[in-house]
Amino acid sequence: MPLMEYETIRILLISAHESMRDQVQSILQGRLANHRIYWVSQSDLGLRRTEELMPHLILVNTDLPATPMSYFVRELGSRAPGVPIFVLIEPDALSEASQAVLAGARGFITKPLRPDDLVSSIQEVLRQRQAPQEDKPAQPMGRVIVFCAPKGGTGRTTLAVNTAVGLAQKAGESVVMIDADLAAPALDVALNLQSARTIANLLPRLSRLDEELVRGVLARHASGVQVLLAPPPGVLPQSIPLPQVQQIVATLRRTFAWVIVDLGLPMNETAYAFLDAADRIVLSILPEMVGLRNTRLMLGQLYERGYPEGKIWLVVNRATLAGGVKPKDIEGHLDISVAFTIPDDQPLATHAINRGVPAILSHRRSALARGYRQFVQKIIAELPPTDQEGRLRHAARASLVERLLGKQPVRQWRARPKKADGLRAASTVEGNDG
Ligand SMILES: Nc1ncnc2c1ncn2[C@@H]1O[C@H](COP(=O)(O)OP(=O)(O)OP(=O)(O)O)[C@@H](O)[C@H]1O
Ligand SMILES: [Mg+2]
Repeated sequence: MPLMEYETIRILLISAHESMRDQVQSILQGRLANHRIYWVSQSDLGLRRTEELMPHLILVNTDLPATPMSYFVRELGSRAPGVPIFVLIEPDALSEASQAVLAGARGFITKPLRPDDLVSSIQEVLRQRQAPQEDKPAQPMGRVIVFCAPKGGTGRTTLAVNTAVGLAQKAGESVVMIDADLAAPALDVALNLQSARTIANLLPRLSRLDEELVRGVLARHASGVQVLLAPPPGVLPQSIPLPQVQQIVATLRRTFAWVIVDLGLPMNETAYAFLDAADRIVLSILPEMVGLRNTRLMLGQLYERGYPEGKIWLVVNRATLAGGVKPKDIEGHLDISVAFTIPDDQPLATHAINRGVPAILSHRRSALARGYRQFVQKIIAELPPTDQEGRLRHAARASLVERLLGKQPVRQWRARPKKADGLRAASTVEGNDG
């Protein structure tokens, strides 16, 4: 499966010694953007974590006690077919290395690790993943947009819902929404949907998740948008494990052109699993001074976890609120460009939520609906389809629109260089599981 533009690269390191994790971490920090290292210290945990994580790359150290390397590499390969495995060997253990390669490892890297060796091996693997395979036409993959916010009540659900409906109308492509606000689900109310089937029905059946099973639990809105609802608070534990989130999102993006996630708080592992899978993270904020502090904290956390700035779109909701902080001042405070602004219209927003009909449908001519449509336009322009055929269609459509309008179809967004540069190339390391 090709790597998506902003997908976090998951690297599983299996090594008995923590010092190896520190070495790998310090080499990759700043050299490989947007990655996360998962470390386990035992071979049996390594097998289990491989299945759960489906990493992009596995590094196996030869320091694992009682673990014949060629057997172990074969086992890893059978649990995660196609995932490249590199063995970290002593310089004089070339026969062990060649056995590992015969057992299916992609290659070996000699210790002590040299930054150039490690980084170039990883980059080569990632390049191969991204290169289109000649014999197979690239499978179209839906784009994932996650709506989140540093605090409640910033209009995240309203924006997500109107975006989803707008995409279904404008792009004419299939759209699915996920209510990932497990503590306070709202998509059923916002879209006036009633269904007893929710994400809770999928979780016990994840091992045989397929398109049909997923379609069976989705609720259908009149706009064509399909929705994976959340059960009432308390039915599910507060978090869904990362591999399960990955599996649900992967299945949906194989089936739908757009996957729109309404993500709630807290920012736990479930939340980060959604953010890892996102092509864009839309951070909705209000033009209020007090909220900006939380936003700054959240941005810091996102950069620390290795999400590149280009993946994050800051959207100021209710931007025209009387006395609100101006976008320029927000940019000055947060050191990130405002990607988009949505006007304030309290009566219409309240009317929409009370009736369960998004404003983009009920009040097409309102400034609010126009704002949502322009936002949708921006999304379509900046997230082209992932398959070749779709890209050509998209390019032809974009140039036609440009010719008709004599300009770019949407306001161009450009990330400003940030002062705290060190943070951006940041990566993260998950703790040892064993
Ligand atoms: N552009 C807008 N202008 C005025 N009011 C708005 C606008 N967008 C949303 N609202 C109102 O703000 C309130 C919060 O909106 P919404 O529920 O979408 O936010 P949320 O961030 O999802 O909140 P929660 O934390 O409860 O999930 C609602 O009353 C909604 O009607
Ligand atoms: Mg909400």
